[in-house]
Amino acid sequence: MATSRAGTILVVDDEEIMREILETLLTREGYEVRLASSGAEGLELARALPFDAAIVDIMMPGLDGIATLDELKRIDEDLAVVIITAYASVESAISAMKSGAFDYVTKPFKNEEVLVVIRNAMERRRLVTENRSLRQNIQERYHKFANIIGRSPRMRQVFDLIIQAAPSRSTILIQGESGTGKELVARAIHAHSSRSERSFVTVNSGNLPPDLLESTLFGHVKGAFTGAVYPKKGLFDLADRGSIFFDEIGNVALETQAKLLRVIQERDFMRLGGMETIKVDVRIIAATNVDLRQMMEEGRFREDLFYRLHVISIQLPSLRERRDDIPLLAVHFLRKYGDENRKMGLEITPEALDLLTAYDWPGNVRELENVIERAVVLSSDARIGVDLIPDQVRRAPHFHVPQFVVPPEGISFRDVITDFEKRLIESTLEAAGGVQKRAAELLHIKPTTLNEMIKRYDIRPRRRRQGNGVDTKHERVPETLAPAPAGAPLTPGPVFDDK
Ligand SMILES: Nc1ncnc2c1ncn2[C@@H]1O[C@H](COP(=O)(O)OP(=O)(O)OP(=O)(O)O)[C@@H](O)[C@H]1O
Ligand SMILES: [Mg+2]
Repeated sequence: MATSRAGTILVVDDEEIMREILETLLTREGYEVRLASSGAEGLELARALPFDAAIVDIMMPGLDGIATLDELKRIDEDLAVVIITAYASVESAISAMKSGAFDYVTKPFKNEEVLVVIRNAMERRRLVTENRSLRQNIQERYHKFANIIGRSPRMRQVFDLIIQAAPSRSTILIQGESGTGKELVARAIHAHSSRSERSFVTVNSGNLPPDLLESTLFGHVKGAFTGAVYPKKGLFDLADRGSIFFDEIGNVALETQAKLLRVIQERDFMRLGGMETIKVDVRIIAATNVDLRQMMEEGRFREDLFYRLHVISIQLPSLRERRDDIPLLAVHFLRKYGDENRKMGLEITPEALDLLTAYDWPGNVRELENVIERAVVLSSDARIGVDLIPDQVRRAPHFHVPQFVVPPEGISFRDVITDFEKRLIESTLEAAGGVQKRAAELLHIKPTTLNEMIKRYDIRPRRRRQGNGVDTKHERVPETLAPAPAGAPLTPGPVFDDK
């Protein structure tokens, strides 16, 4: 449809110099560029011509960037719109993202930054158009896809994305809370690609030691270091012509991130101690349960690596964002564990199902799966009733987030959240008698995740108090969490094992 092979881009900016800069930059990359000096002019062009992407300045007299974005999406819902903002107005960039912008770039920007975003937009555009008919099919037929259960609109979008993205070699970033099915999705992508006959190799990124990174990923030659008696292949060799899955990419140390970036960019490497360059053909998939964009803003995740990974990103909804799927999932797991335990014809009572649907599932599908497995194992007849639903679900401690009074001068969102997280961890550690593993269970997170947060927040172990003042009841938690008045001392510090 577009006249240029690379794609056609609409640039809407009231400043002539910006239009010129973008035009030169994009034309040099082979894109065809059309310029508009106002929102209204941009819309006129968009109605007359097909575009693959648009770059829109947010601050313009008359129709501003957000209003232009809204209208552009009405003209073509698949159009990838990139918003340009001043550094000082990142909030408006975020509201643009919420209104459906594809991405944003802050001024002053580096050329490469704009090009990466545009390349990503083009890739996305290509996939969307290529697979539209496939998508319609899927939407109508599926409530299950490659072992992934769900028929909520959010999950259908995920299925679409998997189907659209699987055939290409583009790097994919899967984001979602713990237990939402990130690994399942990564495997589904591999299974639906032409690489499905080859290996799917998982790398636990958090465990990659910087000094062993190269030999783990690339292998080493005989004699590369003391003890390297035999040559050894690396994970990239194993994954050749298949896929490599970097799980928990957010846990990779900064130092290791630089090395990883190089591999992802170049896709060829030398074995440790070796001379020969080895080229591999791998599809890279990464997953994370932390907000990489935020980590990037805090300088804890490399920007260049983020953009490399983020070519296609799949956001998995939490289970409480797709409650409609809870009964479907419950029945699925009932069958699975019924078969495993040779208990046939199991049924969940409506009352029990109500409880399951009302609960918030902080541990997402994994937690639901565990609850059903437990109920199946413990059931004495075919009926799974309220009595088989564990306490935490039954007595869902409707956790009241305290009301905050925002001072007139405003307050740092990040500081409040950080403080909240810190207190929650401290209180939970206290409730868990200082045992990190137990505290992680209470918070439905992995012990490694908790341990990482303890380190990050520098929550220091204290000596265990004499006498056990520990109260593990859920009801206590909100009290301990009530925000202290400004300047008030923190609640008594945590007491936990130093391990
Ligand atoms: N949509 C789903 N349908 C069926 N089973 C699911 C679904 N989502 C998750 N599960 C199951 O829940 C469990 C957790 O899934 P998975 O390991 O993929 O989650 P994750 O997002 O990688 O979690 P973590 O961040 O903790 O590693 C697995 O047993 C998986 O089979
Ligand atoms: Mg996982």
